[in-house]
Amino acid sequence: MLTLSTTLGLLFLCYVVFQFVKLQREVRKFPPGPASIPIFGCLWQPKYFRLDRSVLTELAKSYGNIYTLWFGRNPVVFLNGFQAVKDGLTTHPEDVAGRPLAPFFHAMAKNKGILLATGSTWRHQRRFSLMVLKSLGLGKTSLEYQIQEEASHLVQSFRNTQGKPMNPSFTLTLAVSNVICTVVFGHRFCHDDKTFHQLLEAMECIFTFGGSICHHVYDVLPGLMRHLPGPHKKALACCEEVCSFIRKEIRSHQDGGTAEELQDFIHCYLAQIEKSKDQPKPAHDEPNMVQCIFDLFLGGTETSSTTLYWALLYMVAYPDIQAKVQKEIDARVDPGHMICYEDRKNLPYTNAVIHEVQRFSNIISIGVPRLCVKDTLIRQFPIKRGTVIFPSIASALYDPDEWETPRQFNPSHFLDKDGDFVCREAFIPFSIGHRMCLGDNLARTELFLFFSNLLKALTFRFPEGVKDVNMEPVLGGTLQPHYFKICAEPRHAL
Ligand code: HEM
Repeated sequence: MLTLSTTLGLLFLCYVVFQFVKLQREVRKFPPGPASIPIFGCLWQPKYFRLDRSVLTELAKSYGNIYTLWFGRNPVVFLNGFQAVKDGLTTHPEDVAGRPLAPFFHAMAKNKGILLATGSTWRHQRRFSLMVLKSLGLGKTSLEYQIQEEASHLVQSFRNTQGKPMNPSFTLTLAVSNVICTVVFGHRFCHDDKTFHQLLEAMECIFTFGGSICHHVYDVLPGLMRHLPGPHKKALACCEEVCSFIRKEIRSHQDGGTAEELQDFIHCYLAQIEKSKDQPKPAHDEPNMVQCIFDLFLGGTETSSTTLYWALLYMVAYPDIQAKVQKEIDARVDPGHMICYEDRKNLPYTNAVIHEVQRFSNIISIGVPRLCVKDTLIRQFPIKRGTVIFPSIASALYDPDEWETPRQFNPSHFLDKDGDFVCREAFIPFSIGHRMCLGDNLARTELFLFFSNLLKALTFRFPEGVKDVNMEPVLGGTLQPHYFKICAEPRHAL
């Protein structure tokens, strides 16, 4: 006779074997990948908890440029190298245009807005926001003029440090964020405005949480985490703080009456709500407006300012490249004028350097996840609806088949043999396909104008006694440099 405990033990064993066989059958329907076991998937190997570049490269070597990692019962398909990322995101772009509504993203955005929304909400909000950004001056001189204004405030802030050692990060964030403020709120903030500082600190807290382990724990155990204190509560409180600030700005636009001219994003969105208010299920409402503004802020502040932060670090680390940029600017731009976006055609080396900064700093790393919204085919592999896909941007920006010296900071990647600027197909820091970055034009304009005008006015160097700094990135919401200090020295008297 079997005892109760032996019977239970045998039943459990049968259950595990059954689950194992079932999982192996499922696994065969996906691109290859490392061995998975029930409940844990591939996470029984601790190295898959932290998906850094070396782990992903090793996986691609073993399984090819499209492979699957199982997190518990959920398959996640990774695309590696420029060609695989391009095929995956552009062969059937509409099939992979979803965003996984993971529990924390859902708690943050509730499937509203653009960045963290999916399906028809995303389609409507993205289409409308793009149209508004275009009408407000992307590619027009009015917005360019405002970026130049912001660049001159930035130069002045650095001049005020009088060549003393300083960390440039927060000053860069203030400048970049003011551009988005002008677009969405119709005004900028003073660099010492307390509310502005609080807003940016809240944004940073959200971004930092996005890259933390606690974020993953929340996604695995949302029911439990909702009841526990911790950084997730702080991040959600920061989201609420930013949203309530946005709501206040909306109220003050409403109190100001209808504008003659639609001067900012809020004016345009309010006009759209008014226009569609008699429709049975209007796609444009206040919760979506708040979330769109939140997304423009979140998407457009940390990314561009982190890129400029890296740019200054590279300039002090490679002073010969900095000197070459300044030589080109001095030779080709009128010293009395701010550099404008059109000048990039005359400044191929400067333009190549800022592109190489974006490639080499690779701030988005493995990218933002996509969701398969329909059964589809990627490189002959059938991928089921509901599968999460990671198109690794890092693997395209560092692809040895696309770049001559992928692991070196080398502006020649963007220059032809005559020294003219050439853009490369594998340059995809803004991703590709239907969900590619919505602010890429604004970001390109900002990066060029801030970078070139800073280098025109100032020379950056390490403080006395500092020879170099750690150039490895810190993993987080974006890839950031380690904390460093530099000195900004005016090149010309005022
Ligand atoms: C250096 C600067 C920037 C970089 C590297 C960058 C990169 C990216 C990437 C990789 C994505 C994900 C695309 C995908 O899912 O395939 C994205 C999405 C997005 N970005 Fe940017 N971005 C930058 C600047 C900006 C700016 C200035 C704005 C605001 C105007 C912005 C707004 C957005 C929004 C709203 C999305 C969500 C698009 C969607 O889900 O449809 N970004 N960005």
